Amino acid sequence: MVIPTYNERENLEELIIRINNALKGFKYEVVVVDDNSPDGTAELAEELSRRYPIKVVRRPGKLGLASAVLDGVRACSGGLIVVMDADLQHPPELIPKMVYEALNGYDLVIASRYVEGGTISGWGIHRRLISRVAILLAKLLIPRARGVKDPISGYFLFRREVVSSVMNDLSPRGFKILLELLVKGRYSKVAEVPYEFRVRLRGRSKLGLGELIDYVVSLINLTPYLRLIKYLIVGAVGTAVNLGALYLLRYMLSVEHFIASAAAIEASIISNFVLHEHWTFRDRRAGKWVFRLVKFHGSTLAAVVVQYITSQALHYGLGVESVLAQLTGIVIGFAVNYALSNRYVWSGSHEC
Ligand code: GDD
Ligand code: MN
Repeated sequence: MVIPTYNERENLEELIIRINNALKGFKYEVVVVDDNSPDGTAELAEELSRRYPIKVVRRPGKLGLASAVLDGVRACSGGLIVVMDADLQHPPELIPKMVYEALNGYDLVIASRYVEGGTISGWGIHRRLISRVAILLAKLLIPRARGVKDPISGYFLFRREVVSSVMNDLSPRGFKILLELLVKGRYSKVAEVPYEFRVRLRGRSKLGLGELIDYVVSLINLTPYLRLIKYLIVGAVGTAVNLGALYLLRYMLSVEHFIASAAAIEASIISNFVLHEHWTFRDRRAGKWVFRLVKFHGSTLAAVVVQYITSQALHYGLGVESVLAQLTGIVIGFAVNYALSNRYVWSGSHEC
């Protein structure tokens, strides 16, 4: 059992007693990872360790929940590891059921508030909303979180092998740790077990704005879609440049549509190239930039031809207004553009 604590003195004894009762007949040890709690949690844990199988890991200061969990994993010796909070919002009575699922072949067993039978009591609308939005974002950005109803649960069990070979790749930040395991862990079967997330027994929650910001930062670090998201942002900027140039040429300089459209496209190609070089594909710049500029023109040409034809067809064929015709072309050309940039222009290899 890995239990991170920060100012949980008031809850610790009852927690340990309940764990001990729930795990009668099991061989277990509890690793309490305390961040130098001012209320003396660690001292109480040391005292309890004379009567219960407890090991206390003392860290010098408040270093965060996720890293406390990892230090706990390093310090424990069991083959099945349970992570839980110390405030009794996670009922220890659920552990045997989680162990049972592990023995049934599941590598990761999540105590879940959001599967059938799971509930939350004592949370206001505010905290419920934060939880829902956090889960929604996780599912949107992390493919491996999609099959899980409660991917941000702080109560879960896993086989040691799930993390043993990836310990050094984990970057524990803020509160989320399960998400990190879901993305980087080695597992094949995941089970969720419902439970009632109760009111905090005593003391207060340590979840604050800092933890929420850390959560968003870690989602960005974990998502496989980061490049696509950057590409989309650059695409949006390019679209503004494209449409701005078109507007300028058409309505301020009275240039004919077929010329204005082409010039606007070229302006956006150049601005996109600069942004991709310095941001989207910064890590994939190999060789001379001039070659990439030429290649980017080559690859964009395919997309641009698609865009241009679409724009002309809509404007001259269907009488669609200039800006709208251009915009439709841009959207269709985008997919072609991304695929080619990714594989051909910024492939990261040196040959040209
Ligand atoms: N060592 C250490 N260091 N422990 C910490 C720290 C820290 O910096 N911050 C919090 N803890 C401990 C607390 O003492 C408690 O035992 C546990 O981590 C969870 O902290 P809470 O403050 O009770 O979190 P919560 O109830 O708001 O959030 C819970 O639910 C979330 C999902 O809604 C946690 O389980 C989260 O992990 C979970 O994402
Ligand atoms: Mn809590």
